[in-house]
Amino acid sequence: METTTIESLSKQIGQTATLRGWLQQKRGSKGLFFLVLRDGTGQVQCVVNQQNVDASSWENASVATQETSLVIKGDVQKDERQVGGVEVQVSSIDVIQIVGDYPITPKSHGVEFLMDRRHLWLRSRRPWAVMRIRNRIIMSIHNFFQERGFLQMDAPLLTKNAVEGTSTLFEIDYFGSSAYLTQSGQLHGEVMAMAFNKIYTFGPVFRAEKSKTRRHLTEFWMIEPEMAFYDLEMNMTLAEDFLVRIASDAVSDCEEELALLGRDLDGLYRVQAPFPRLTYSEAVELIRSEKTRLLVEERKQELRSQKSDLENERAQNKEIYGRSKEWKKRRIDAREIEINTRLDQIEEELRNLPKWWQSAAEFEWGKDFGGSDETLLTWHFDRPIIVHRYPEAVKAFYMKRDPEDDRLALGMDVLAPEGFGEIIGGGQRADDLTFLEEQVRRHNLPQEAFEWYFDLRRYGTVPHSGFGLGLERTVAWVCGLEHIRETIPFPRTLGRLTP
Ligand code: 4AD
Ligand code: MG
Repeated sequence: METTTIESLSKQIGQTATLRGWLQQKRGSKGLFFLVLRDGTGQVQCVVNQQNVDASSWENASVATQETSLVIKGDVQKDERQVGGVEVQVSSIDVIQIVGDYPITPKSHGVEFLMDRRHLWLRSRRPWAVMRIRNRIIMSIHNFFQERGFLQMDAPLLTKNAVEGTSTLFEIDYFGSSAYLTQSGQLHGEVMAMAFNKIYTFGPVFRAEKSKTRRHLTEFWMIEPEMAFYDLEMNMTLAEDFLVRIASDAVSDCEEELALLGRDLDGLYRVQAPFPRLTYSEAVELIRSEKTRLLVEERKQELRSQKSDLENERAQNKEIYGRSKEWKKRRIDAREIEINTRLDQIEEELRNLPKWWQSAAEFEWGKDFGGSDETLLTWHFDRPIIVHRYPEAVKAFYMKRDPEDDRLALGMDVLAPEGFGEIIGGGQRADDLTFLEEQVRRHNLPQEAFEWYFDLRRYGTVPHSGFGLGLERTVAWVCGLEHIRETIPFPRTLGRLTP
C-alpha cells in the first residue's frame, strides 16, 4: 500500500499523495467539503470540490462521519494558513469504515468521561501532542546518558526489598510467600554501578499511593542513574545538565505540539544551568518568610485579573454568538469549555492559597515538604531549584549522613518551576556497612532481604550517588499540564485501573 504520512506532506508540495487515516472534523458548504484528516503523524485539511471528484467520492465525503476511516488521494498544495503549511485538493475518497455515534464529539467533555474512554480519547489532539512530547523526552533521556557512557540496565520488577518505605508497597503472593512490585530500581542499580561504573534504569515502578493528588500515580516510569565515585555535588550537577537537555530538546523539536497545548515557552527557555541550590534549612527559612506571603498576595491579584479577563471574553462571546457563522459558533463552544475549566482552576487555587500560606508560615524544621510547600518554594525562582541536605528522618534508609551535621542526610530533590514541584529525588548513598545495617534495623526492614545489598559495602565499597526522575511528572511540567493523569497513555491511580 503506497501511503504518504501527513507529517511528510510539506516535502511533497505539487505532487499527488495517497493518505490513509481517520476523519477528525468536517464542515461543508455548497459543492464543497473541508475534511480534517488525521493519520497519527499529524492533521491536514483536505478540500473536496464536487466539480473535481466522481460521484462515489462525493457520496463518500457526504456520508463520512467523525472517525470514519478513509483513503484520500489528492494534490498537495502550499497553504501557509494551515497547520503544517499544506492543504490537499482531493481527487478521490474511499471509505474503509463509516462510523456511527463516535462517543467523543468536538464538544467538550469532562475529564472523567474522557478517561473512561481513554482508548478512544488518545486519538484526539491534546493526547496526540502530549504523547509525542513524552516520546521526545524519552529519546532525550536515552541520548543524554548514552552519549555520556552510561550503561542502560533493567532492574527486576518483582522483589523482596522495600526501597522507599513500606507504606506504599504493593504486596503480591509469590508461590506462597510474599513479594513486592518494585518501588524503585535503585538498589539493583547500585549493584550495577559497582560492576559497570555508570548506569541508568528506565522502567516502570509501583507505589500503593492512597492519596488522590494531581501528582501521584500508582504505576509510573522512573529513570534512575547511579554512578560510582560520584558525591552529592557531582550528582546535583548531573541532574541539572539532564533537565537542561530535556527542556532544550523539547522546545527545539516539539514546537507544534507545545503550541497546540498552549505551553508558554519562556518557562522552558529559562531552564539553564546553574540551578539555584538551597539547603533544606534555607528552604524552610524562605518558605516561612514575608517574601512568600508577598508572592501569595501577588498571585491572588494575578488570578483575580485573569478571572475578570476570562469573564469578559465569555460575555463578549455570548454577545456575538447569535449572529455568528456555524464554524465560529463551534469555535466559541470549544473556547467556552476552556474558559470554564480555567475559571474552575482559578477558583480552586484562590480557595487554596490562604491554606497554603498558613501551612508554609507554620512550617516546622524537620518536616517533609508537602505539595503546596514545594509550589510556593518554586515561585521564588524562574528555573528548577535543587534542595539538598534534608533531615535524615524524612529520607530513605540508604542515604549517607552529612559529615558536618549528623541530623542531615545527603539527599537532594529537584523541584520544577511554575509550581510543578518535585520531579527528581536522589542523593549520595551510605557506603559504610555498620551504618547501613543499623539503618535497616532502625527502619524495621528485614535484615536478611538486604544481605546482597550489604555485600556492596563488604567488597570494595566506594562513594556513590544517583537519583530518580519521574517521567510522568517531567512530561506534566514540560507540557504545562495541570494533572499527571494525561501524561501516560493509560494512567493507574487509586480509583482507576481501566481501560
Ligand atoms: O523521590 P523518590 O521516591 O526517589 C526514589 O525512588 C529513589 N530511589 C530514586 C533514586 O535515588 N534512584 O522518587 C523519584 C521520583 C520523584 O521525584 C517523582 O518525580 C517520581 O519519582 N514519583 C512519582 N511520580 C508519579 N507518581 C508517584 N506516586 C510518584 N512517586 C515518586
Ligand atoms: Mg522523593
